[in-house]
Amino acid sequence: MRDYIDVFINGREHKLKGEAVFQPITDYLRYDASLCGTKVVCAEGDCGACTVMLGRLVEDEIEYKPVNACILYGYQVDACHIVTVEGLKKDGALNRVQEAMVECHGAQCGYCTPGFIMAMTAIFDKCSQDSGSACAESCSEKMVRDGLVGNLCRCTGYEAIVKAGLEVDAAALVSFRDLFPEENMIERFRELAAVRAEIKHDGKMAILPSSLPELVEARSGYPQARIVSGGTDLSVQLNKGMIEIETMISISNVDELDYISGSEKAGREIVEVGGRVSLAELESYLLKRHGDLDYIFWVFGSPQIRNSGTLVGNIANASPIADTPPYLFVMDAEIIAIGPKGERCIPITEFYSGYKTLTLAKDEVIKAIRFALPGPADILKLYKISRRQHLDISAFTAAIRLKREGEKIVEAAVAYGGVAATVLRMKEVEEFLKDKPYSLETFEEAGRIAADSIKPLSDVRGSSPYRSQLAENIMAKFYYETAREEELACL
Ligand SMILES: Cc1cc2nc3c(=O)[nH]c(=O)nc-3n(C[C@H](O)[C@H](O)[C@H](O)COP(=O)(O)OP(=O)(O)OC[C@H]3O[C@@H](n4cnc5c(N)ncnc54)[C@H](O)[C@@H]3O)c2cc1C
Ligand code: FES
Ligand code: FES
Repeated sequence: MRDYIDVFINGREHKLKGEAVFQPITDYLRYDASLCGTKVVCAEGDCGACTVMLGRLVEDEIEYKPVNACILYGYQVDACHIVTVEGLKKDGALNRVQEAMVECHGAQCGYCTPGFIMAMTAIFDKCSQDSGSACAESCSEKMVRDGLVGNLCRCTGYEAIVKAGLEVDAAALVSFRDLFPEENMIERFRELAAVRAEIKHDGKMAILPSSLPELVEARSGYPQARIVSGGTDLSVQLNKGMIEIETMISISNVDELDYISGSEKAGREIVEVGGRVSLAELESYLLKRHGDLDYIFWVFGSPQIRNSGTLVGNIANASPIADTPPYLFVMDAEIIAIGPKGERCIPITEFYSGYKTLTLAKDEVIKAIRFALPGPADILKLYKISRRQHLDISAFTAAIRLKREGEKIVEAAVAYGGVAATVLRMKEVEEFLKDKPYSLETFEEAGRIAADSIKPLSDVRGSSPYRSQLAENIMAKFYYETAREEELACL
């Protein structure tokens, strides 16, 4: 067993002990490693000033992803390589992104600049990873804007920054693999991940199991412990002093939770997503399977949040306004829980017992989530209503899935979020829709039934009457959108 966290930073190995394990890694970077290029502004994953590249071993190579270091704690970065803005230079020279930002006047006070440079470098690195060779073409404006959704600038204005992204000579950008030879790191990461780590400091304990059986043992040994996955929910609460955690179990070295598998059941494509799979990995796996699924990933947080956050974390956090549950509700997803007595499946409709409470036993962890993908006969729409398009928490969410035979609705599944303590399957609406004609009148009446069957709360994201109105109107919106798509398909 180890009593330290081992992380490489800009190619150099660091051993984290004591307080450093229980702090955001930005504190270590800035105050212990003197790498002050990484800034902290919001400390809640919202502004991107703290963006670093996090390299993890995936099969036989290190994959780099941009993440928000302010919500990444020491116990989450074991067996990882962090590249900060200081690590980008080669032989003392700026990299191509840094040069482009200088040439296009992409900085004024400069506080956000390192974060933008890291996020922009990541756009080109991803492009070359996806294509298997250096990204020879400049990125499109959409790619640049999408890649920078998680970064805020308060003074320069985005035109100059986006222009810099479009000016980057991507073919001449040195890849992370060329900057930091990986052989030694890979060998060390394998050694580290094979050994359980347990670090104690000042009444706190972090446990890093190295396998699924060790995770189950740790969970049943410490039922009060919090499981930490991407930390994008938990670390924000820690940073803001909303919670204290004495014992945390980080699943970052449990490789058995890092899988996505596909199968078929009764003619439907089924996907199983392990507990450690990030939203970004799932997004790539599902890419272009269904437009509305793509859309939900596109509006989910930012690239940095999707690289750290997991689907399982989104479900386990039990927020009634989380973005993925409505889809999982209408696709009859199942949670695969594992504990000392073995595995069991819990239908997602039975997984929540109340506001932020689960039916998961104290000695269980979530191993995976299993759900169907929409088939050719499914008409599916997913909705996220928030004050702004990106980096915002929903006021209301909905998923509507239908099957039709001619003009008759033969199957309907409807789930709403943000209207009760948990996400709800709207049973009365589903029963009403079945065998009804596919018409505006049907959906308007379904909307009225939906609004009558809920009693939403008022909070900062929306009042109760506003949410009731959304619950009603979304049904007509579904009709207009799907009827229009049908019309276009016939042209
Ligand atoms: C800036 C920002 C933007 C965001 N935007 C969105 C958004 O657009 N839509 C949205 O829905 N959410 C959003 N979130 C919330 C968050 O990113 C998601 O809920 C994410 O999916 C959480 O995953 P995680 O792995 O980071 O969870 P963590 O923070 O690690 O954990 C969350 C909860 O799940 C539990 N848990 C995790 N894994 C397991 C397991 N295997 N077994 C049992 N329990 C487990 C933890 O104990 C904890 O209670 C945002 C957060 C931030 C900071
Ligand atoms: S400091 Fe704002 S995202 Fe980290
Ligand atoms: S240059 Fe000042 S915040 Fe962006």
